Amino acid sequence: MKEILQTDRLLMRTWTLVDVKALFEICRDPEIMLHIGTGKPYQSVDEAINFLNWTVAYQAENGFCRWAIVEKASQRIIGSCGFARLENSGEIELGYLLARQAWGKGFATEAAAACLKYGFKELGFSSVVALTDPEHIASQRVVEKLGFIWRGIENYGGESNSVYVAVNPEE
Ligand SMILES: CC(C)(COP(=O)(O)OP(=O)(O)OC[C@H]1O[C@@H](n2cnc3c(N)ncnc32)[C@H](O)[C@@H]1OP(=O)(O)O)[C@@H](O)C(=O)NCCC(=O)NCCS
Repeated sequence: MKEILQTDRLLMRTWTLVDVKALFEICRDPEIMLHIGTGKPYQSVDEAINFLNWTVAYQAENGFCRWAIVEKASQRIIGSCGFARLENSGEIELGYLLARQAWGKGFATEAAAACLKYGFKELGFSSVVALTDPEHIASQRVVEKLGFIWRGIENYGGESNSVYVAVNPEE
């Protein structure tokens, strides 16, 4: 496992297969998965294993992925945050999700802000996009607080998304 970065309250690191139960417990919650991927919660541990295997391979190939978020105080995994390339355009997408008990404490903003900084400084991204469901106000607030600018409504995989973009301030 590799530590990626730390914030005041959080640590972000790569996943290992030992994390499978923690990930499954988060992703089996329908409300959490409503705006993620297919919109459906994980039905089986196999889906969590598939995701973990994907992150390991993706990290090895690209130097980034959707990392695990650990709350320092409890040492528990409370979600995931990080990057992946959009399939059609190759743009770098920032994504995040948190366990329900961790909502409303500013954790998503704290994790996403640190990832974005890491993406610009350490990974050299020129720009990063964020895709949100048009009605998903909480997620839009997170990217707005990070300084993302609204780009418009765009279609990805047959779904309308409210798309935001952040540009590397050093470029
Ligand atoms: C969306 C999500 C990441 C937010 O996490 P969080 O840690 O609660 O977010 P933060 O506390 O950092 O910030 C949320 C902001 O949205 C606001 N907010 C939350 N729910 C809201 C609502 N229904 N209407 C308007 N604003 C809302 C909060 O007040 C806060 O803004 P503020 O700081 O200006 O008050 C979390 O709910 C989650 O993981 N949801 C499931 C997965 C998901 O949808 N991921 C995003 C996919 S695009």
